[in-house]
Parts: sequence; C-alpha cells; structure tokens
Amino acid sequence: MELRIEDLGAIEVWTIDGEARRNSLSRAMLRELNHHVARAGKERALRCVVLTGAGERAFCAGADLKERREMGEAEVHAFHVSLRSALDGIEGSPKVFLAALNGAALGGGLELALACDLRVAAQHAEVGLPEVGLGIIPGGGGTARLPRAIGVARAKELVLTARRLGAREALEWGLVSRVAPLERLRDVALELAGLVARNAPVSLRQAKRAIDGGLGLPLSSALDLENQLYQDCLPTKDRQEALAAFAEKRKPTFTGE
Ligand code: COA
Repeated sequence: MELRIEDLGAIEVWTIDGEARRNSLSRAMLRELNHHVARAGKERALRCVVLTGAGERAFCAGADLKERREMGEAEVHAFHVSLRSALDGIEGSPKVFLAALNGAALGGGLELALACDLRVAAQHAEVGLPEVGLGIIPGGGGTARLPRAIGVARAKELVLTARRLGAREALEWGLVSRVAPLERLRDVALELAGLVARNAPVSLRQAKRAIDGGLGLPLSSALDLENQLYQDCLPTKDRQEALAAFAEKRKPTFTGE
C-alpha cells in the first residue's frame, strides 16, 4: 500500500507512505491516488481530505526518479496521463483537499499540493520546481497552476531558477496559508479541515467550482458562473436547515442534500 488512509468520519487523512524514497510518486502510488480520489468523491459522510507524507523529510519529492530511470518515453507519457488524472480529480472533486506539507514538496510533490484547495506547511518544509535543472519542465500542472496561485512574476522566478523556497517565504508568497512547527502541523491541518467540514457539502462543492472555474474567465463570465452555481444551492435541504438552525439558535446539521 502506497497510501495510508485514516478515516476520521467527515475527515480522512491520506499519508503517502514511502518515506525511504521521500514519498516520491511511483506508478503504483498514482494508481492508488486515482482510486481513492474517485472513491472519496462518492463518500457521503466525507467532507475534507488531508493529504500528507510519511516522516519528517518530505511531503513528496516529485516523480520517483529511480523508477523513472527504467522507464521508456511511452511509459513516462503514461505516467503523466495518470498524474494528470489524479490531480485533475483532486481539483474537480466535490470534496475539499488540504495538503499538509510535513517536509519538502518538490516537482510533482508541489504540483500535487497545488491541485489541493488548501496548503499548510511545517516550518522546515521547502517547496520548489526543480525540473528545468533536470532537463524537463514541470509536467504536472506547475506552469499552469503556479502562476494562477501566486502570479506570473513569482511563478517564473520559481520555475526558471528552480530554487527552493522555505516555508516562511512560501507563506509570504501565498503558496501556503499557514505555517506551523512540525509537531503542531497535524493539529493545524485537522483544525482547518474541521472548520471546512462543518459547512454544507453542496456549498463546499459549488464554492470550489466557482473559484477554480471563474479564475480563467473574464469577470462577467466568472460572475455568471458564480450565479449559476449559487442557484444550485437554493433547492437544497441544507439551505433550509441553515435557516431553521439560525431561527432556533442552534448549530445546523448538514446532510449534503
Ligand atoms: N525519487 C526517488 N528517490 C528519491 C527521490 C525521488 N524523487 N528523492 C529522494 N529519493 C531517495 C534518495 O535517492 C535516497 O535514497 P537512497 O537512500 O537509496 O540513496 C533517499 O530518498 C533519501 O534521500 P536524501 O536526499 O538523502 O534525503 P533528504 O531527506 O536529505 O532530502 C529531499 C530530501 C526530498 C530534499 C531530497 O531527496 C531531494 O532533493 N530529492 C530530489 C527531489 C527532486 O529533484 N525531485 C524531482 C522533481 S521532478
């Protein structure tokens, strides 16, 4: 098993379990990731997935470069199809994904984190896209998602220098939203996941779609998209439940209907 799954009810913690190779992405790992992303999308009780890596050194060191050395071009291509499917699956998932960077997130590791909705980092974590130093370019969405996340100037600096950023700088650059000492990282991630998980599932899905889908659109089209996704919330039982809970001065219980 490459991914260790902890079921905490509304939250699942997925740990990339390959510490000896710094949680790098093997083909087997991507198969499991694809499987669990598809499964998670259908789990009714699940609201938020916390994705992290085993050990203290790395969240994910990118592609498994030892496996890669044995792969032909066609196999590398197939690897990228599988990576794209997993990352698109995370981004398009109705569930919220939070990457808890327990150590280095490099190359595909950072791209995996970028496909997630939220990112928090341990103080010692480093992030970077080393690909141009390896004779390739980021191939898991780095050139597309990074500038959307932090702007073109900073994205180009990271991609073209291949330098690594520390957690503090990553926070300043808006690449992560919180930094914590390693021993507090899990608590911080679960606390944030808990804040997400108490909200209405349909709202979470629609809000995520509105933000991700609207980013590439002209403002008026983004506002149209937002309105369309808003309308879909109107007939839900959860909206009625929220109004009833407000009137009755209690916390709402959402079912996702
Ligand atoms: N693929 C396969 N194995 C990897 C790996 C990767 N991407 N990254 C690290 N490993 C392996 C090392 O080869 C080493 O194996 P060994 O014990 O058989 O020699 C083991 O993990 C430990 O690596 P080490 O560099 O000693 O660990 P560290 O904790 O000092 O540093 C990193 C961790 C992630 C910062 C460092 O390993 C690194 O920079 N890795 C390369 C990242 C990279 O360039 N990824 C490719 C992106 S396209």
